[in-house]
Amino acid sequence: MTAALTSAPPVRHRADNERICDALTLRLIQQEIAMVDPDQVFQSYGRSCNNPQFYEDFYNNFMSQSDEVRKMFANTDMSAQRGLLRGGIMWLVMHARGMSDAKIRALGESHSREKLNIHPSYYSLWLDALIDTLRIHDPEFSPQLETTWRATLSPSIEMIKSMY
Ligand code: HEM
Repeated sequence: MTAALTSAPPVRHRADNERICDALTLRLIQQEIAMVDPDQVFQSYGRSCNNPQFYEDFYNNFMSQSDEVRKMFANTDMSAQRGLLRGGIMWLVMHARGMSDAKIRALGESHSREKLNIHPSYYSLWLDALIDTLRIHDPEFSPQLETTWRATLSPSIEMIKSMY
């Protein structure tokens, strides 16, 4: 009898539950903010971007993910494209570091439905290919740095997708 009483769960009031939910939400937001780290991403790109092989590996990774992607680059001068990508990734990193969104908006426009017609669903493949390439080229890459890259680039990529 006494045991049953002592093991009964404590009665929680609605206000307690709301406080617990608020605390959990706050902790999740804090974790998300902690993952965004433009300086770590900038350093990581600095360790990777000077090797021309980085861009070759990126496009091999990207195109191997989907025939549709491969077809989009069928008539592209890939050596020029690799140079353009070098700048494009830097724009994403600099935007995360606080640079104006002009270059990101330009990418949003060039990749929009009316121009290159890049459907928003392709950007996750793009980011996966970037992560796979960084994993090979950045000697300090780690699962934690992967999370940081994804969280840090996400707002700029979302901006490009939103302009589709
Ligand atoms: C945030 C991610 C991306 C970045 C930073 C990026 C960057 C660039 C840059 C700098 C150019 C050169 C033209 C311009 O300045 O707009 C370009 C062209 C292009 N991008 Fe992207 N891109 C991204 C995502 C994608 C995705 C997801 C696809 C889908 C397959 C794609 C397909 C293309 C194609 C087809 C071209 C034109 C190639 C040509 O001239 O033949 N891009 N991209």
